[in-house]
This record gives sequence, C-alpha cells and structure tokens, in this order.
Amino acid sequence: MLPDLVTAIPGPKSLALAEKLRKYESHNVTYVADDWPIFWDRADGTNIWDADGNRFIDLTSAFGVAGLGHTHRPLRDAMVAQSEKLIHAMGDVHPTELKVEVCKLLSEMTFERWGLGCGKTVLSNSGSEAVETALKTAYVATGKPGIISFVNGYHGLGYGALLGGGFTKFREPFNAQLADLRTVLQYPRSEEKLNSVRDELSQVDSTKIGALLVEPIQGRGGKIVPPASFLKLLRAWCDDNDVILIFDEIYTGFNRTGKLFACEWEEVYPDLICLGKAMSGGYPISACVGKVEVMDKWPVSPGEALHTSTYLGNPVGCAMAIEALKIHREPSLAEDVLKQGEELIVMLKDIESHYIHEVRGRGMMIGIELHHKNGEPAGDVAAKILSEMLAEGIIMLADGPNGNILAFTPPFHMKLGEMVFVVEQLRKLLASS
Ligand SMILES: Cc1ncc(COP(=O)(O)O)c(C=O)c1O
Repeated sequence: MLPDLVTAIPGPKSLALAEKLRKYESHNVTYVADDWPIFWDRADGTNIWDADGNRFIDLTSAFGVAGLGHTHRPLRDAMVAQSEKLIHAMGDVHPTELKVEVCKLLSEMTFERWGLGCGKTVLSNSGSEAVETALKTAYVATGKPGIISFVNGYHGLGYGALLGGGFTKFREPFNAQLADLRTVLQYPRSEEKLNSVRDELSQVDSTKIGALLVEPIQGRGGKIVPPASFLKLLRAWCDDNDVILIFDEIYTGFNRTGKLFACEWEEVYPDLICLGKAMSGGYPISACVGKVEVMDKWPVSPGEALHTSTYLGNPVGCAMAIEALKIHREPSLAEDVLKQGEELIVMLKDIESHYIHEVRGRGMMIGIELHHKNGEPAGDVAAKILSEMLAEGIIMLADGPNGNILAFTPPFHMKLGEMVFVVEQLRKLLASS
C-alpha cells in the first residue's frame, strides 16, 4: 500500500512522545529533532503505522530484521502459540525441544548444505553477542588472541564485539578500556585494492592472530560488495596460518543478498558464521554456528557453561526462528529477492542527479552513494533526504562512516507500486536538493 498520511510528520502524538522520551531515556539513545522520529504503533508487510495513524513504507526492514515482512503471519502465529505454552525456560540447564530443533536447522542450512559436515551452535540474543561467541571460540580453538578486522566493519557495540570493530567513532570513546588486539585492513572495493589486502596480509605476524572477522558484504559500512576473489583470498590465508575465519552474516544472512547466505555468492565458507536479525523476523535471537572441529575445542560443560546467558534458547524466540528458518530455506525465496533487487536497482540507476556517485548492492541490500561536486561525501544531503522522505511517508536510513550512503533494505516482497513511488520521491527530492 502507498503511504497514507493523516497528519504532518511527525504528528502531534509523536511530538508529545518525543518530549516525554527526552525526559526519561538517556539522550545518547534515540535521536530526537523537530522532524524526527515518528513512533511506531503497528506494522504489516512493508507498511508501518505510527502513533498518529500515518502509514509509511519501510525501506529498512527495521535494521534488516523483517525481511519476510513486518508481523509476518506464520511468525506471529508461532509466537502467539508458543507464548500460550511456555515463554521462558532454562537455556543451558533444562532447555526445550525447540532449542534442539533450531540448532539442527542451522546446521542443515549452513555447514551441512555446504558439504562440510555438521555445524554446532551457540545461541544468544543479539548480533553483538554472536560475534563475541565467535571471537571467544577462535581464541579457545587457537590460543591466539589477535583479531584481523576491516575498516568500517560493523559487528555490534558490546565490548567484546568492539574488539573486532572497524568503525572508529564507536570504539574511540572506549579505547582506554579495550585491549588492542586488532590488525585493521582496508575493505577492498576493487580488484586493484585486493592486491593491497594481499600485501597487508603477507606482513601480518600470524603467530598472534586467532581470528579473522569479516562481513562478506559490508552493511553499515556502506553496502560495499567486495571483488569476487576477496573471500577466497581470506580463506586461503586463514588455512595457511591457522586462523579461524569468521563471517559476520548478521545483516547479509537469510536471503538478504539474494542467496541464503552472502558467502554463497563466492562459494567460500567460514569456520564460524554469525547470524541474527532476520533469524526470527523480530524476536531477539542470534547464533554463532561453527564447524564441529572448531566448536568442539570448547571444553565439555561440567555443569556450568563458560559462555551462556539467561535468555539463551528462549522458547518464544526459538519457535519464531523455526518458522522463519523453514521459510528461508525454500530456494524460491532467494530467487524472488534477487529478482526484486534487480528491478529496484535498475529503477534507482535510472535516477539522474549530480549527487549520485554510485548505485550498488546485491539482492535487497542496495546503497546509493552521494557525493558533492568536489568529491566530498554528501552526508548532509543524505540526512536532509532522510527527513524529507519521512515527511513523504518513507522510512529510510543512511550508512557509511560519513552517513552518505542511502540504504535500501526493505522487506523482500515490496509491491511494484511501492517501488515506483519510492523512486519517484527520491528523484524529486534529489532534484530539489
Ligand atoms: C554485520 C553486523 N554485525 C553485527 C551487528 C550487531 O547486531 P546487534 O545490533 O543485534 O547487536 C550488526 C547490526 O547492525 C550488523 O549489521
């Protein structure tokens, strides 16, 4: 459905809620300005309704979570049915059958599908925690604390995840409390840059490096698709140097890029894969899945796990994840996403604006990089476009360290009319910027 705005944006209720929030929430959390935010009330498919009754089109899938669409019926039904039976159990003590099923499905959809034997899982609640599990696992498996990561790699904001984070602005305020274990390499955008990665890797003292942490396509870093042999290069280097290769597919996983997992584009597989976001379509659940021989380096639990949490394997999250995983494993979904992404990218490439430096992406993970005429990143223009789009009934975000990449990660089944509307609004706003 196209947007249906019954008030100016933000409407009176959103404005009043923003005022209240200013009083009660830490002011570092929600960005509040005259034209931002709206307060979500309900959602269906690609549409969001706010507290004032305005209807929006969501180009974000709420941070990539609602790929299958907001309030997707099968997921909602699984959640409701499970909540009537059991909403919490004892994840690492007396768990549920649902947890067993999630771990089995994740194994089947990753390492077993890739012909690499069984995969073993540690569940958690957020993406950041899945990354922390992976970093700990790599250390347990190799005894080497060092981490290779990439400039503008985003892996979450917990202290553990920040150990491998590549966004300076998130790390810097806390540097004094973070061990510097990283060797940070440039994330390559071209074949040429791949040679620099090769050179940099050849100079790394691998006797200290246990983990290489990378997104197969950089998400928050700016929707950057690396050259074809990048992941192959990393796989070979890790194999030669006894380093655990970790793919952070928290954003790219579950069909977002038009393959079940983005690494499948290159047919290169990790030792550990981090998953989250779309895994349940809305309940906080995440996973680190690893090759058996790596995961089995953890000592067997003597009754107290070294790495767990209160909500690990929560039954409601698992019930939703089971439904979501079953939908995601149908190959036709990846084909749909690919087709939709191709349509959308063609339409976006047709927009003429001197601000547009590049339109890129894979599947339904697309970015438009905006530059000023002098080549400077146009984060200011992107920010203006975001609030103008919101005022037109379109929810979107920008990525990249300069905030100059307009991001398109909508729910997978956008209607053609919605795409046309979004593209026309963007064309109009860029023309008047
Ligand atoms: C690639 C990637 N890894 C990790 C995270 C962190 O996930 P969470 O915010 O659930 O901790 C994100 C979140 O955007 C992400 O995009």
